[in-house]
Amino acid sequence: MKKLFLLALVLPIAASMLAQTIQSPNGKTTLTFALNATGEPTYRLSFNKKEIVQPSRMAILLKEQPSFDKDFSIAKIDSTIFDETWTPVWGESRTIRNRYKELAVTLRQAAVPDRLFVIRFRLYDDGLGFRYEFPEQASLVHFIVSDEKTEFDLTGDHKAFWIPGDYDTNEYQYSTSKLSEVNGLAGSPASEIHARTPIGTNFVQTPLMMKSADGGYLNIHEAALVNYPAMNLEVDKTSFKLTSHLVPDAVGNKAYLQAPCHTPWRTIIVADKATDILASRLILNLNEPSNIADVSWIKPTKYVGVWWEMHVGKSTWDYAGTQSASTWDLTKLTPSGRHGANTQRVKTYNDFAAKHHFDGVLVEGWNTGWEDWFGKWKEDVFDFVTPYPDFDIAELSNYAKQKGVKIIMHHETSGSVTNYERWMDKAYDLMKKYNYDAVKTGYVGKIIPRGEHHDGQWMVNHFNRVAAKTAERQIMLDAHEPVRPTGLHRSYPNWLACEAARGNEFNAWSVGNPPDHETILPFTRLMGGPMDYTPGIFQIKMSYFDPNKKDQVHTTLAKQLALYITMYSPLQMAADLPEIYEQHLDAFQFIKDVAVDWDDSRYLEAEPGDYLSIARKAKMQNEWFIGAITDENARTATLPLNFLDEKTPYIATIYADAADAHWEQNPMAYQINSYLVTKETILKLKLAAGGGAAVRIRLLTEGDGRNYKAYK
Ligand code: NOJ
Ligand code: CA
Repeated sequence: MKKLFLLALVLPIAASMLAQTIQSPNGKTTLTFALNATGEPTYRLSFNKKEIVQPSRMAILLKEQPSFDKDFSIAKIDSTIFDETWTPVWGESRTIRNRYKELAVTLRQAAVPDRLFVIRFRLYDDGLGFRYEFPEQASLVHFIVSDEKTEFDLTGDHKAFWIPGDYDTNEYQYSTSKLSEVNGLAGSPASEIHARTPIGTNFVQTPLMMKSADGGYLNIHEAALVNYPAMNLEVDKTSFKLTSHLVPDAVGNKAYLQAPCHTPWRTIIVADKATDILASRLILNLNEPSNIADVSWIKPTKYVGVWWEMHVGKSTWDYAGTQSASTWDLTKLTPSGRHGANTQRVKTYNDFAAKHHFDGVLVEGWNTGWEDWFGKWKEDVFDFVTPYPDFDIAELSNYAKQKGVKIIMHHETSGSVTNYERWMDKAYDLMKKYNYDAVKTGYVGKIIPRGEHHDGQWMVNHFNRVAAKTAERQIMLDAHEPVRPTGLHRSYPNWLACEAARGNEFNAWSVGNPPDHETILPFTRLMGGPMDYTPGIFQIKMSYFDPNKKDQVHTTLAKQLALYITMYSPLQMAADLPEIYEQHLDAFQFIKDVAVDWDDSRYLEAEPGDYLSIARKAKMQNEWFIGAITDENARTATLPLNFLDEKTPYIATIYADAADAHWEQNPMAYQINSYLVTKETILKLKLAAGGGAAVRIRLLTEGDGRNYKAYK
């Protein structure tokens, strides 16, 4: 590990009226801090000498106390440089370099002369992070943030990839439009999302991905969201200025803080190639290192589950077969015979997982309460410790142990978080007793405490409390319907993944996700961290399960394989049913082989909304996997294999769309071929409309014989 921490300069107050300019370590980005004529703090950012953010103001407004907004003078300026290479517990690469120039500006206001406010900037070669800090001081102890006014004054009417600003959900379809055409109340009807609180016409969420008319790429998000609400952005459609908009609490306040403390980092990532946005580690680097000493129990995981069969309507979560029973007293309920999580069915999944070497089996619908699930805003729905009568938790725990598989726990809170908090300790005790080491949580519904929002400070603290508590108990975590991630998996490496966006599940029972959805997610939602997208759907048309259903996954089968690479996550589900995989064991082989932890990742080609191709090297193996996907347009992915080492030859097994494949007309047509390749090879992969390709590349071994043709 290389580490360098240097105190570069402390400027005297005499310099206070001057603008302060710093450059990133390689000189590519430039930041200027200045106070304007009314003493408001401003910053501007340029990349390759081109202005990206014009002078933009920064302010924190307080309730019942003078705000941190104007009439400032500079009390002190500190500048440092930092360079460290660290090793994540799991990730897209084995090591990560964290190198930046820092500028910390201490400010003072004439009207409150003994109160200090710090703005800390970290300038990277690929962008900027900054946050507001409130030092320990007699004149500021407890305070309420009524608003934050951080501006991002952009240089033009950029093309933006956005979802509506909302306090409760990020499960929207993406829209692609100019900033001037954003409409946070139009777009997809989104009636399939259970708890929605759209903010208004001009509001969008982050990560916000943008492209300028001259081909530059720009991403705005935040890092290390702790004890603070999430940030939405208000778009000024004529000046193209974005302004932060924090999620309020039940009484309209934004955050309750006590000094010393600080806000999350506001992040701006810049690039002249779209692939460099994907390669950025800026958000992760701005998060605190993990303090979990023993990480031996944290394992990237591939899993199957009693899950998709409920989404396609083959079985149910609840025992009585109705989600609107007038009671969920088990003595009064008659079993419907369609309950998915029954002992026999769970054994079938365990057998399947063991046979195909999966680590885990998720089981949803195992506990009482599902008769009274979403939409009721009721406090006591689930208790997280009482199995349904047909789910034998002790027997299944032994069965899984014998098979060498772990059952993954499911805690659907229905948004009643007060109730979950009351049960958490007992629920984790039960998990430990029965040998579960991972939990998937869920928050479908309006939040209780009533009036709180999924993305407000109270819930942010809840999500982080669950991460800390599960870490203490050596439990891995996957959160569905949480606030969108901000790189906190660096601090909590047990927090393998989140959903926090529109997952594959929407394809089973709604208008679904259009074919470009997965070409946008890596540039938006995934900038903050891994997503439990649940790929691997092979039976693409839902009419297979119910002739009346018109829904389908907007994909080809080969594209589902590619998603294991293009949608980075250390937690990957093979989401379809065992009996479906049994019909396509040749294609299923890719899901069995694909790694979930990586030494290296190469972002080969990408354009948000259109296509992307990524190659990744499996951790501690001389083995590479490639995923290439496209939107609704067919295309050819051209992929040089120059990342392979000199050892030759390798075998590339290519899982591709058949010549006549098409996401709508012929989605399940694929072909599998193996060839000899070397580092000189350039793969040209034909991707069908809405399609993709997946490739496994491994060294030729003695047992392989000589029957492979060279790739041409
Ligand atoms: C929504 C989650 O995203 C999904 O994975 C889960 O099956 C249901 N809620 C039920 O908890
Ligand atoms: Ca969901």
